Amino acid sequence: MELGLDGKACIVTGATRGIGLATARLLCAEGARVLFVGRDAAELERVSAECGGDFLAADVTSPPEDELIVRCCAEQLGAVDVLVNNAGTSFARPLEELTDADWQAQWELHVMGPMRLMRAAAPLMARGGGGRIVNVCSSAGKRPSLTNAAYSVTKAAQLSLSRVFADRHAADGVLVNAVAPGPVSSPLWMAPGGLAEQTAAARGISPEEALDAQRAKVPLGRFAEPEEIAAVIAFLCSVHAGTVTGAAWSADGGSVPVII
Ligand SMILES: NC(=O)c1ccc[n+]([C@@H]2O[C@H](COP(=O)([O-])OP(=O)(O)OC[C@H]3O[C@@H](n4cnc5c(N)ncnc54)[C@H](OP(=O)(O)O)[C@@H]3O)[C@@H](O)[C@H]2O)c1
Repeated sequence: MELGLDGKACIVTGATRGIGLATARLLCAEGARVLFVGRDAAELERVSAECGGDFLAADVTSPPEDELIVRCCAEQLGAVDVLVNNAGTSFARPLEELTDADWQAQWELHVMGPMRLMRAAAPLMARGGGGRIVNVCSSAGKRPSLTNAAYSVTKAAQLSLSRVFADRHAADGVLVNAVAPGPVSSPLWMAPGGLAEQTAAARGISPEEALDAQRAKVPLGRFAEPEEIAAVIAFLCSVHAGTVTGAAWSADGGSVPVII
């Protein structure tokens, strides 16, 4: 299927690994010009070079770096057609052990960073005749998890943020949607020290047992691959999703048992 992304100028945050890297690679393969964004400059240079993308090392929680990201895309790629707000993270910590700093850091990363990027990008997209924004949220934003309550709450806020920008910019032709993945076999879960090892340590079980317990919560019985989430994101950025805005597409293997 031709996605109509050839030549489009795209920003993907959190593009050094996992879902963001899979998305940036897929957009490049579709002929888009992609600005890979993350904090690790050396890794960004390596992965963007593999698919002929541009890169910018920036922390989305540090203003004015977020405005700089949008300006860099506009200047280097000549436009901003697509923004994928994907940068995010989690950790396993009981509710009673979450500090104010934990809550604030999750808020900055999942709400303020994406908000500032959308605030800078949407007017440029509108002036260019329209655009696409996809916010990578989480099934935990629809159905809270106690693995990290601050993650769940800020991902719920990110869903709401997505909707208000969709409402504000629909008439401008800027379509804003969210994707809500369930567990994905990205480095967030699978890397040394990642969620598998953290939840295992917290429960006194092995990492493989922790992964099995997580799989058991998913009706499809498995983690998604990053490429499967990237495919949903790319579709939402494509010409075929021209009437989709303000949606929060679950890509969670059936984890959240509601039809919204
Ligand atoms: N994996 C899952 O099970 C799952 C499920 C639902 C939703 N999600 C969501 O999907 C998104 C991607 O997750 P993932 O699993 O691919 O995670 P990951 O493998 O840990 O990758 C996270 C990416 O975000 C970047 N990042 C983190 N903080 C950043 C910051 N302050 N500024 C710029 N970049 C930053 C990281 O790059 P640097 O460290 O180099 O900056 C990295 O490229 C997140 O929003 C996550 O909440 C994941």
